[in-house]
Amino acid sequence: MGVYVLKQRKLRQKRKGLDEAVEMEMAVTLHNSLKFEYSTLQKATRSFSNENKLGQGGFGMVYKGILADGREIAVKRLFLNNRHRATDFFNEVNIIGSVEHKNLVRLLGCSCFGPESLLVYEFLANQSLERFIFDPILGKELDWDKRFEIIVGTAEGLAYLHENSKIRIIHRDIKASNILLDARFKAKIADFGLARTFQEDKSHISTAIAGTLGYMAPEYLAHGQLTEKADVYSFGVLVLEIVTGMQNNKSKGSEFSDSVVISVWKHFQKGRAEQLFDPNLMLHNYIHESDVRKEVLRVVHVALLCTQEIASLRPSMSRVSKMLLKNEEPLAQPTNPPFIDERTMELNDTFDYSSYPLHNSSPSSNLSHSVFLPR
Ligand SMILES: Nc1ncnc2c1ncn2[C@@H]1O[C@H](COP(=O)(O)OP(=O)(O)O)[C@@H](O)[C@H]1O
Ligand SMILES: [Mg+2]
Repeated sequence: MGVYVLKQRKLRQKRKGLDEAVEMEMAVTLHNSLKFEYSTLQKATRSFSNENKLGQGGFGMVYKGILADGREIAVKRLFLNNRHRATDFFNEVNIIGSVEHKNLVRLLGCSCFGPESLLVYEFLANQSLERFIFDPILGKELDWDKRFEIIVGTAEGLAYLHENSKIRIIHRDIKASNILLDARFKAKIADFGLARTFQEDKSHISTAIAGTLGYMAPEYLAHGQLTEKADVYSFGVLVLEIVTGMQNNKSKGSEFSDSVVISVWKHFQKGRAEQLFDPNLMLHNYIHESDVRKEVLRVVHVALLCTQEIASLRPSMSRVSKMLLKNEEPLAQPTNPPFIDERTMELNDTFDYSSYPLHNSSPSSNLSHSVFLPR
């Protein structure tokens, strides 16, 4: 008994020493302006009250908060609180905190010394694009002009992550709920960065797949091959969802229903893609309706270039933004998207997907992990 108590005390002292060492290191590592006191955030969110809840994601709950100076924030509560990974975590917060672009959600900082880890972001008044495009009533708020601007903004934000930020960042989880909208419906990409710290086991990085079913590129789903082209694929899926108002990863009940990607591809081949346009695009309200229809069709064409099965044929994101903005430029004919059976997640081709870890709906299928690569 006595020995047990002694052991416990020793352990506790050892742990305390470790914690202190880590905290010291973090105090040096984390840029001062990115630090938030736990109590400040607790006050801002009214002790994480239910009324302040914005949504639930793979890592935890998100709350709205108001700081003492009136600034609105979104606070993400993290389930994982791996203090031993704290230095890594702080380094990433530093990096992401320094990435700035009009189409990326600003990370304002974090709090790591309280009872749980919290991330603080700028608050986007209209929350996520997902709330609007899949809802027949709220969808009316976003006519084609607004949606086009959201598509272009998302393309520019992604091009910046891939090509212009200080480090090369692959998002890995581009989807409608990660596109946030400000008060004027301008798009900002959320949840980029913060990759390795959230990975419980580092040895998993090369094997575990993170992303959301329905948005994942076939080569990433099947072989874990991760390049910027995986984001390009997800972007293409997202654009098709924005144009049709249909969700790609939701089966429509019917056993033989096609995914949105396949469905649009088939209609496009037959020159009938317009049949799938969301009525909420409100195209009849435009004076030059037929020109606008052509523009929507061109965007669908670009999206189908992004969802091509062969990754090397997909354009880069900066090419995509140019194709979207330069109306006259002729576009290549898209080749086929992957024919994935959504119920079994198997590709209808020669690949063997049966041993693939994503077959069960593991929680990782809903987590966001971005990837940093050296330039
Ligand atoms: N900065 C923010 N401003 C406003 N709403 C936000 C913000 N961040 C997240 N949200 C809302 O909280 C929800 C949950 O976010 P998240 O944890 O990233 O999960 P997911 O992206 O899987 O939905 C989002 O879908 C969005 O509606
Ligand atoms: Mg998110």
